Amino acid sequence: MADKKIIAVTGATGAQGGGLVRAILNDPNGGFAVRAVTRDPASDKARELAKAGADVVAADLDDAESLERAFQGAYGAFCVTFFWNHFSADREIAEVRHMAAAAKKTGLRHVVWSTLEDTRKWVPLSDARMPTLHDKYKVPHFDGKGEADQVFRDTGVPTTFLLTSFYWDNFIYFGAGPQRGPDGTLALTFPMGDRKLPGIAAEDIGRCAYGIFKRGPEFVGKTVGIAGEHLTGAELAAKMSRALGQEIRYNDVPPDVYRSFGFPGADDLGNMFQFKRDFNEYFCGARSVEFSRSLNPELMSFDAWLAKYTQAIPIS
Ligand SMILES: NC(=O)c1ccc[n+]([C@@H]2O[C@H](COP(=O)([O-])OP(=O)(O)OC[C@H]3O[C@@H](n4cnc5c(N)ncnc54)[C@H](OP(=O)(O)O)[C@@H]3O)[C@@H](O)[C@H]2O)c1
Repeated sequence: MADKKIIAVTGATGAQGGGLVRAILNDPNGGFAVRAVTRDPASDKARELAKAGADVVAADLDDAESLERAFQGAYGAFCVTFFWNHFSADREIAEVRHMAAAAKKTGLRHVVWSTLEDTRKWVPLSDARMPTLHDKYKVPHFDGKGEADQVFRDTGVPTTFLLTSFYWDNFIYFGAGPQRGPDGTLALTFPMGDRKLPGIAAEDIGRCAYGIFKRGPEFVGKTVGIAGEHLTGAELAAKMSRALGQEIRYNDVPPDVYRSFGFPGADDLGNMFQFKRDFNEYFCGARSVEFSRSLNPELMSFDAWLAKYTQAIPIS
């Protein structure tokens, strides 16, 4: 244990961080040990990680000193922020300042930062194609993360910028699953037209991050993107239909209609899909499936994800 490189993992009880914790624990001879960061080491999920062999420590992204303690003595850290807990890109950026400062102070040798594009580089605020949200963002949950890349760069901490993809797990946990229309048929509804949506099993994000830590300095200072498969809405629906044994259509709607759905964050997600649709060549090009598999040979295809999780997809 003493000679192992410790990776401090934020969001350890969540989707991305949890995948990394399990990847490290499942590879006892890989040369890494894991320190799971949670706000509450007494929670069921945190206890489960401790039972599985993780060192569990308390820290809060909103408390810079707690992060310094959590990163002390570690080789690296996986840093992720939680937009959907508070809906504030400004707060994500402030939290990244805390993590980057703690990483700098504790002399971390490698940070993997779970980021996304600052879409304002493609769609400036003056561009009326999509509405400006929260006064200064187009896709707040993307833009804040993309803007925060510079925070890591400014500190000089050796950082890999990891562009993630849409979790297929959203079909289970995020209300993105099949919904029954007025005619009774089930449909997946989002505004991607016939363009491909890079998707990934959430668990694979952590496994890919582990691949990056293992390959060491090769990816320091670089932006790398990951996905399990790029599929159109029609392809996702066809595969899900086969797995569930009932017909699911792809229901393409204009981004304006999606934005008007009214659930919290519908405007942000409407803009996000529009960005992915309208800059599809760039967006898919930045997320190579082959590269992702080279980091993580267990990378799941959508069919493999469905084989594992079909029963969990809520159908009403
Ligand atoms: N859904 C998607 O398709 C998708 C795709 C790409 C990127 N993302 C991004 O992924 C991010 C969320 O990551 P995730 O899905 O891994 O999260 P998650 O599964 O919701 O996990 C959240 C974890 O974060 C911890 N947490 C929350 N607030 C914290 C704080 N203030 N300080 C320390 N820990 C805190 C919680 O742990 P404790 O309660 O144990 O402290 C919780 O277990 C979002 O920013 C989202 O934009 C999502």
